[in-house]
Amino acid sequence: MKKFGLIGMCLTTALAVGLGACSSKAATTTSDDAATADAATDTDATAGTDATAGTDATAGTDAIATDMSGDVTSAAKLASIARGKYLIDAVFACGVCHTPKGTDGKPDMTKYLAGSTSYAFPMPDGTTNIVNAENITPHAEQGIGTWTDAQITNGIRKGVDDQDVAFWPIMPYPEYALLNDADVQAMVDYLRTIPAVDNVVPADTVEPPAGVLEAASAKDSDIPHTTLASTDPLFAAAERGRYLATGACIQCHTPEVSPGIANFKMAYAGGRQHKATADAKTATSTNITPDATGLAGWTIADIVASIKGNTDKAKNPLCDASPMGHGWMGDMTDGDMTDIATYIHTLPPIKNGPFTCYAK
Ligand code: HEC
Ligand code: HEC
Repeated sequence: MKKFGLIGMCLTTALAVGLGACSSKAATTTSDDAATADAATDTDATAGTDATAGTDATAGTDAIATDMSGDVTSAAKLASIARGKYLIDAVFACGVCHTPKGTDGKPDMTKYLAGSTSYAFPMPDGTTNIVNAENITPHAEQGIGTWTDAQITNGIRKGVDDQDVAFWPIMPYPEYALLNDADVQAMVDYLRTIPAVDNVVPADTVEPPAGVLEAASAKDSDIPHTTLASTDPLFAAAERGRYLATGACIQCHTPEVSPGIANFKMAYAGGRQHKATADAKTATSTNITPDATGLAGWTIADIVASIKGNTDKAKNPLCDASPMGHGWMGDMTDGDMTDIATYIHTLPPIKNGPFTCYAK
């Protein structure tokens, strides 16, 4: 359950850059329709290999089973739950924000998805706002146990809670707006099956004024396409990769126009800063477009190895702000990693950087 949501995001955005980055409800409806139309294409592109992901968990799907709420669950529902687990744990790594870290710096799995990593936002007026990733387990009071499917879907895709209060777009909902219906439903189905954890997440530091609206959904046309010709044998893989990277990679690797709002003209060009918890070091993402300031000289296999191992081209470990490697995005299927790498490798190059994760 949310306590406080977005504070004057629209207000600060307007102050900072004078852009209409906040949608009205009416505008949101329009862009949703567009997103749904795009998603239809994406569904086709992701069908097949992706749907087989997480097959371990779907073992015995032919049998009728019972989920934790006691409902009789069909084979289709079990497949959706397995897909949801794969998306949440590996592809989108929701736990990077929603599972707290233990004293050893590793995710505390006794509080799986129970919140909270907090994010410190420097505000245009010089103050810092602390925003906490919520408890998204099915706990009735602390989590989202009482939310309907539609409310959880709205949370993921539109960034509004069960009381229609907007979230900060540190939660990448502007990008998740472009995920297809089946994938969002899969995540909802899976979230209903995880243990409810009674973990209280601290309130955000600033209360939202009444009537604050959520950040606008990204549009499909905001997301760059591969430079490959549609006749290229790798084109289909790159387009599948584009769909996955929109949810998994673009937010961190794209600079902002204002707090939480991506500058898609610089998509994947890096330089976005993250500061998890007020006392943490500020991490900067690298340019992953194939420019000399980015990944020029890397092969598709180099990028796959980087996702798998959370390492750079010379196999040195990346900083702890990068969510790749085993336990997170490195647990994607080889097929999905290769699709993402094919897309990243063939993006339009953008000169920006180079950046170092933590300034020396
Ligand atoms: C970069 C960090 C980050 C990632 C990644 C992230 N979230 Fe969030 N999420 C947040 C924050 C922060 C909030 C609370 C925002 C606020 O309070 O304004 C939140 C809120 C939510 C809420 C609303 C919960 C409530 O009680 O209000 C849901 C549902 C949610 N996230 C689901 C997800 C799912 C599913 C994923 C992965 C597909 C995900 N999140 C990925 C940071 C993140
Ligand atoms: C939570 C934020 C975050 C997300 C999400 C994220 N990255 Fe990164 N990534 C970083 C940061 C920060 C670095 C810099 C690490 C360093 O320099 O040590 C980085 C580094 C990299 C590098 C190494 C670049 C180099 O020059 O050595 C590659 C490749 C990369 N990311 C690709 C991806 C891909 C592909 C995805 C999606 C599957 C992704 N990243 C998702 C934050 C993120």
